[in-house]
Amino acid sequence: MTKHSPIQYCILQVKAKEQCRVLLAELFAQNKKHSDAAPVKLVDRLSSGGLTIAELTQLMGSYDSESLTHNVIEALGAHALLEISAESNARLCTLVPRSRGFRFALKPLDERLTISRFTFLLPAAGGAKIETCHGTASGWVSAEILQLLIEAASRSGIDPAELHQHEQTCITMLAAAGFLVAAGSDGASPGYEEHASWEFHDLLFHTRTRLGRTEGSIGATYRFLGKEPPDPALKAPPTGLAVVSLPAAPALLTLAREQSLLSIIEARRSIRAHGAIPINLHELSAFLFLACRVKGLQSTPAGDFSFRPYPNGGGSYELEVYVASGNCSGLARGLYYYDALGHNLVLLSQPSADFESLFVDAHASSGGMCYPQVLLCVASRFRRVSWKYAGMSYATQLKNAGVLLGTFYNVATALQLAGCALGLGNSERLNALTGTDFYLEGGVTEFMLGSRAWAEN
Ligand SMILES: Cc1cc2nc3c(=O)[nH]c(=O)nc-3n(C[C@H](O)[C@H](O)[C@H](O)COP(=O)(O)O)c2cc1C
Repeated sequence: MTKHSPIQYCILQVKAKEQCRVLLAELFAQNKKHSDAAPVKLVDRLSSGGLTIAELTQLMGSYDSESLTHNVIEALGAHALLEISAESNARLCTLVPRSRGFRFALKPLDERLTISRFTFLLPAAGGAKIETCHGTASGWVSAEILQLLIEAASRSGIDPAELHQHEQTCITMLAAAGFLVAAGSDGASPGYEEHASWEFHDLLFHTRTRLGRTEGSIGATYRFLGKEPPDPALKAPPTGLAVVSLPAAPALLTLAREQSLLSIIEARRSIRAHGAIPINLHELSAFLFLACRVKGLQSTPAGDFSFRPYPNGGGSYELEVYVASGNCSGLARGLYYYDALGHNLVLLSQPSADFESLFVDAHASSGGMCYPQVLLCVASRFRRVSWKYAGMSYATQLKNAGVLLGTFYNVATALQLAGCALGLGNSERLNALTGTDFYLEGGVTEFMLGSRAWAEN
């Protein structure tokens, strides 16, 4: 009996016939030897019952070189027009390419294979959905192939030579599309050298939050409309707690407003040294007023909105500012909520071990250069944005946090204060101090604020 190559059983099918014809006509036009009827004939075969890869290669052979087979698969895959599946008695495995980055590189099954560090599985009827952080394709595997993938996930991987032919077909497909990689013989982490600078979560975040490699809807889809109301435009300030009214600081506002924006941009630096005479409540008040107060409110059929000094993607103004006062003249030490509408500070937490740790963390983030007089902890009310945006909600909030940091820098410069952004803070600690839920509101960035060291000269 002739032993067929496992890939013999891998079936290609297309939808959207007309689009496929146009694409293949373009592809074939770059290859001189084909007949004009080729794309029509090929698409007819691919759309009615499909072709095995072996049949496709055979068909291509009469027109052109073998590499054209790959070009056809990758070109159709790039435009999400192709489905690649393997069946024995029932469906075993399906691959649905969806981006230009899709590669289908068939390799001989001559080494042990393991799953790529970018591959992940999700529950799906009858088996599992298989995904990759690359976002180039997704697929489905039956319960039998899922068992195989679980075995493959072990460091030593699986030996394809020991598998049945129908299993080899699936493994070949998944390896060709990059879901499986060579296990390596030395026990070293397989696949790590490829795209070594990318970590799993960063790559997934990048592919999922931009157009091009995403699956499903992304953008302003209002996916909770009619199911639950949006979170309010303004968070209700905590009640029953001590409130510190922030004083008007007209002289400071005048000082800041008299400077040109470009002179501020030119002068701005990250300053990690704070003066011996600490920042005072008037300066803090002017800073918060100019950088992040609520300037106005508007009710619309789409909900309530606020206006603030900085721009905000989505106009949701989901960011909340908490003020950790460590050494601010006129303001007792403690953690305060900035009520951006009332321009007040609400005392949430007296100094505690967690409170002190905020400053210790900030000191470490500043490379040991600054134990800030004031630490501004910026938190996001996540659902305010996810109510509107699908796929890009958290990315939008991080961009918005960056915009707020830029405004903090400029206002600190205009007020002749020392400011410096911090890239790393402890969200869970902030939740504990503010009494907020990790999944509803969380710290996204920090900013150190204090007096300038030269001010005392
Ligand atoms: C998003 C962001 C995060 C930052 N994180 C830190 C940090 O964790 N520690 C720190 O000392 N500086 C931090 N900085 C300040 C940068 O190091 C600084 O902006 C950069 O070195 C350029 O210097 P300059 O701001 O004085 O022009 C951060 C700045 C930004 C915008």
